[in-house]
Amino acid sequence: MNEHAQETTGANHVCPVSHAGWLASSLRKLLHNPSAILKGLVREGDTALDLGCGPGFFTLPLARLVGESGRVVAVDLQKEMLEMLRVRAARAGLLQRIRPHLCAADVIGYPGPADFVLAFYMVHEVPDIARFMAEVRGLLRPGGRLLMVEPWFHVSARQYRETLAITTQAGLRAIAQPRITLSQATLFERV
Ligand SMILES: C[S@@+](CC[C@H](N)C(=O)[O-])C[C@H]1O[C@@H](n2cnc3c(N)ncnc32)[C@H](O)[C@@H]1O
Repeated sequence: MNEHAQETTGANHVCPVSHAGWLASSLRKLLHNPSAILKGLVREGDTALDLGCGPGFFTLPLARLVGESGRVVAVDLQKEMLEMLRVRAARAGLLQRIRPHLCAADVIGYPGPADFVLAFYMVHEVPDIARFMAEVRGLLRPGGRLLMVEPWFHVSARQYRETLAITTQAGLRAIAQPRITLSQATLFERV
């Protein structure tokens, strides 16, 4: 395996369930305001995927944006994260719009089609990014969008550039680089 492959397909650390409290905390909104981050990306009636949703910090705001006629597929490989999401969504009265989906590390397993995919602070945890991005492209509608956000404190600029190259090779075109605190972010469109 070459150096590039090691950085992008190595056995990656998965965010522990013990971090869920911080991930879902309302204080986090001071850093990552879901309304500002998702503004203009999701419409009523859309099908949105929250990949690596964790306890659902972005899943609930997405469910509000897609409305009663839309759907959010909340994907994670840890069933404890999906269970926390389920509880939070039920409390917020949003569970009907959300479909929790347990995936494997190397297969999302949702066929699509989706209008929008969010991958917030999770791509660096994926073992094979090329495979993952090919699957994301396959489940997006033509013109559908992916917002990828990675933390600068876990992902070097070089690693991020490599991930961008892999994503572009998978058939997703970078169309914007939103500014998000503590993060490197790119909006892609399916070509
Ligand atoms: C750092 S947390 C971010 C959670 C959420 N996106 C947020 O910003 O609050 C990363 C999440 O991605 C999930 N994850 C890691 N690798 C994954 C994979 N290959 N497929 C799906 N989910 C994955 C972890 O279980 C964890 O819940």
